[in-house]
Amino acid sequence: MAKIAVLGHGVVGSGVVELCEKNKESIQKRAGQPIKVKHILDLREFPELNYADKFTKDFNVILNDDEVSVVVEVMGGINPAYDFVKASLQKGKNVVTSNKELVAAKGAKLLEIAKQNNVNFLFEASVGGGIPIIRPLHQCLAANQIDEIAGILNGTTNFILTKMVKEQMSFDTALQIAQELGYAERNPAADVEGHDACRKICILASLAYGKHVYPENVHTEGITDITLEDVAYAESWGGAIKLIGRAKMIEDGKLVAMVSPAFIHRESQLASIDDVFNGILVRGDATGDVVFYGKGAGKLPTASAVVADVIDATKATKTSESLSWIDSNENFVIDYTLSSVAFYIRCTAENMEEAKSAISEQFGGVEFLSRMDAPQNVLAFVTKVMVEKDVEQKLQNLKNTLQVISKIRVLDY
Ligand code: HSE
Repeated sequence: MAKIAVLGHGVVGSGVVELCEKNKESIQKRAGQPIKVKHILDLREFPELNYADKFTKDFNVILNDDEVSVVVEVMGGINPAYDFVKASLQKGKNVVTSNKELVAAKGAKLLEIAKQNNVNFLFEASVGGGIPIIRPLHQCLAANQIDEIAGILNGTTNFILTKMVKEQMSFDTALQIAQELGYAERNPAADVEGHDACRKICILASLAYGKHVYPENVHTEGITDITLEDVAYAESWGGAIKLIGRAKMIEDGKLVAMVSPAFIHRESQLASIDDVFNGILVRGDATGDVVFYGKGAGKLPTASAVVADVIDATKATKTSESLSWIDSNENFVIDYTLSSVAFYIRCTAENMEEAKSAISEQFGGVEFLSRMDAPQNVLAFVTKVMVEKDVEQKLQNLKNTLQVISKIRVLDY
């Protein structure tokens, strides 16, 4: 029998305990032995639970219990999670986590400590909730060079955008429902400002390209400035607005990596991904595009990925060679203003004809957009693909003719 400890009894932690009980027979069959939750670490008490006797407030009870072979860290945050994970690995215990903040900040270090101690540090649940993506990336797609990864990586923001667009729900109400459903982070600013998606694209890029990509080097924008006017223009253009995390290897081993809202054409496989669902497109040089789709947040989808890692951990005899990357202490992400992309721009202008001809002169051929009920002084257009800082310069040149209200990238996936 394999005995495990679960650090944290929040949404995911309680889901892990529930799933281990609910599916114990099939889990036993797949693991080759029963898996039993022996300890649960939480500062709160849960006297109403029929497994209340498993709770402890003292991490040392878990660390010093030689029967515990797998520690599941689902507390979130860096501290004290990092110390607990590090100590567990150093004690020769496997660690499974859903903590993307921890993996994005300390992944290289923890993978190295796991290797030194001949155990595994597994984090399938840290990206895409219940969607298998980490294991496919380093196993099933191992024969490919990964040209690009792009995805809807945050369930909460996708849920909010969907509710705003399809039900005209306010941002705040949609966020509140996402919180009630257990999708949002403890501090939902991490969702709506894009930091959660940033951590996830950093994990995917680190794994795909073999070197740690740090969140602080990845330009990140959230969805707080998206309005229903922009949504209407996206529809008239022929698509939808999605929060997209992306990473792409370019020449000289440099990486373009970014998180931002984007216009996505409705024919794209990412455009119709709604609600809490995530979709991750991986472009391999041999496979072409492969798209992973499923529930990106929530109790049991995330617990499913955690428990699958627990099963793998109980069967492993050595550290995975392919689930790894190094910390090169080098920022290989290029300055985002030097990358090339098309933009949707919405602005006001006093003289529309003059503004249109000035825009066409500055940008070359642009596509002017229209929508029902647009105010008389509002103009919207989509540029050609150009270097971001050139777009900025051209808008600067037009500052006496128009005032920019919003600017959203247009991506082609
Ligand atoms: N808050 C995250 C999301 C949870 O909404 O995607 C899953 O990582």
